[in-house]
Amino acid sequence: MHAIQATAFGDPTVFALTELPDPTPGPGQISIDVTHAAVGLIDLFFRQGLYKDTPGMPQPPFTPGLEVTGTVRELGAGVTGFRTGEQVVAMANGGVGGYASVFVATAATTVSIDGSGIDPALAVSMVPNAAMAHAALTAVAHLREGERVLVHGALGGLASAFPGIAKQLGAARIVGTVLPGKLDAARNSRLPYDRVVDSTRLTEELGEEKFDVVIDPVGGQIRTQSLAFMPPGGRLIAAGNASGDWGHAVNDSQLWLGSVTIAGFNAGAFLPTHPGLVQPAQPALHAARTAIAAGLGQTAVETLPLSEAAHAHQRMQDRDVAGRLTLSPQA
Ligand SMILES: NC(=O)c1ccc[n+]([C@@H]2O[C@H](COP(=O)([O-])OP(=O)(O)OC[C@H]3O[C@@H](n4cnc5c(N)ncnc54)[C@H](OP(=O)(O)O)[C@@H]3O)[C@@H](O)[C@H]2O)c1
Repeated sequence: MHAIQATAFGDPTVFALTELPDPTPGPGQISIDVTHAAVGLIDLFFRQGLYKDTPGMPQPPFTPGLEVTGTVRELGAGVTGFRTGEQVVAMANGGVGGYASVFVATAATTVSIDGSGIDPALAVSMVPNAAMAHAALTAVAHLREGERVLVHGALGGLASAFPGIAKQLGAARIVGTVLPGKLDAARNSRLPYDRVVDSTRLTEELGEEKFDVVIDPVGGQIRTQSLAFMPPGGRLIAAGNASGDWGHAVNDSQLWLGSVTIAGFNAGAFLPTHPGLVQPAQPALHAARTAIAAGLGQTAVETLPLSEAAHAHQRMQDRDVAGRLTLSPQA
């Protein structure tokens, strides 16, 4: 198979397009002929070596990519409910392996999109993150019908999945925040935000408005600023540090004084310990597929050839993406 390998930790030039033996599925696994692999910020963090000292994290040489779509190539022992040639979306348990023409997934984190009418590039861009959004909003934020939701970095890969799922769960109002340079793209996007505001002018833009649930994959100062927009009982989900500010600390007195909660959500930690969300009935994945098929996740998607993985990473690093990038071995 063709695969992109990070040959060392470093800038995007560490990527090399290589030929590797085709992998075969073990028990409970499915191999997939990949048509599209999504590019996420976590792939950049792995490539840069941000987690290099954390046990179990990828070490060079490795193939990045944790979300793929394609067709089922082979079923491993014991796998039922899928057939060869069926179109599926899958998430990698270990967070790597997707930038390749063949990918081996766990059946439990694979969902069929056959007959759903969802474009494959949109499917890989939205369905896994929408499943994460469903898990975070139901099992962590406990979103109730009629509540108001604020989403930071509103066009980001993870963030852009939240408005559709929040709407599906009955949220009354969903506001997104982006940097000024992305306001037009966000306002013209087909994502179901009721309003998009400038993340550098939150006080002026939002005034006295309050949000029961805040989704924050950005972190840094915006995490602390968000507390001012939460009513007593409000819940903020810290879901990433896209800002790169890993040292930011929230003053915990603000939590009890404001009677608000900050909860963390990390799919890599939460899903394996809460397997009921993705198996056996896969409620989060099925809800995600339903929401995207219903048009609740129409983010902008651009597809580049697999061989342009380094260029894709450079653009993500330069924040030159207003939507999602996917890589295709067939492009
Ligand atoms: N909790 C989980 O399970 C989970 C799952 C997937 C990803 N994540 C994490 O969530 C974060 C976002 O990942 P993603 O794949 O959604 O990334 P992404 O597509 O690049 O989106 C990140 C968003 O954050 C904003 N941002 C603010 N400061 C930034 C900076 N210095 N560099 C880049 N973006 C910045 C950007 O919006 P503006 O330019 O408008 O500010 C951008 O749209 C990462 O920390 C990732 O590790 C967590």
